[in-house]
Amino acid sequence: MIYSLTQQLLRQQPRLALLNMACRSDHAFSLLVYPYITRYSTEKSPQKPFIHLDGNVHKMASDGTGTSRVATAVSFLDETKDTCTFVVPGSHKFIEEWSQMLYKDGITLGDRPTTSDEFYTKYEGFFKQKYNAVRMPVPCKTLQVRMTRSDVVHGATPQFNSDERMVAFLWYTKVSDPFNGHDKLEIPGQHTWTQLSGHYALKQAPDRGINGNAVTKDKPPFPFPAEVHFPSSSAFTDALICRRPWTDPEAISELNILLSHDDNAALMLIHKIESHLISNFKAAFIKFFYREIEVFQENSYFKKNNISLEDLGLTE
Ligand SMILES: [Fe+2]
Repeated sequence: MIYSLTQQLLRQQPRLALLNMACRSDHAFSLLVYPYITRYSTEKSPQKPFIHLDGNVHKMASDGTGTSRVATAVSFLDETKDTCTFVVPGSHKFIEEWSQMLYKDGITLGDRPTTSDEFYTKYEGFFKQKYNAVRMPVPCKTLQVRMTRSDVVHGATPQFNSDERMVAFLWYTKVSDPFNGHDKLEIPGQHTWTQLSGHYALKQAPDRGINGNAVTKDKPPFPFPAEVHFPSSSAFTDALICRRPWTDPEAISELNILLSHDDNAALMLIHKIESHLISNFKAAFIKFFYREIEVFQENSYFKKNNISLEDLGLTE
């Protein structure tokens, strides 16, 4: 899924967006959430272990492309230290040295959007010895959020036996220069704002990924037939999902309150937005419940599992 109601709710969570603004090294405000799947792995379809960098190490080292971003993930299950994402703390400090070592060994990544396993494991022993750069597990409990600088090396542990993982990724990226046009985002190759706005409206999977890459896998071929519309909850949250631009006066006005020194006013607005989000989510989920049964008939998840709205704690 890319546009499920739960993903849409998380993408509009005002505190997560504000945390991203605070944690980004450039503190950009003009953020949007790039549509991306929720990852679900099971014993039958396990998570492959990996260690990589969400960007091209040479580009990150030379001009800082993509280094301001903060990878944000929300877990839907309790993770353990043996089955979760791990990070290599401090690895952002040797990006330039790593890039030079690759060049020295004749390895140029060209236009690769990410730096994959083999380009790190070759030097892992060296960095471990020199900087004590070791893999550190970062397990999250259900609904905890993991935020990681995008210039930090990270990966996933192998999947053991019957454990399950379910993680939603909130890929915040920025409109580079919002008052001089909205189409340029921060990584070359990413969709434009206009295209993403269309993807959000049509519930279509993007063809270009968050790192500017062509999307070749994990791409749903058509929108989920039971999708329903998530109504607008505020101007600020509209801007996070490309429903209105960051030049919109109402979005700016709300942003100014949220970022002001008046904490009470900011908190009041956050509570108001969250209250709208929750009531809109519940109303949309009830519509989704009936639509899913209507579309899938005997194959409906709710029908097959005999799940009622009351079972879900929802009433009309
Ligand atoms: Fe990654």
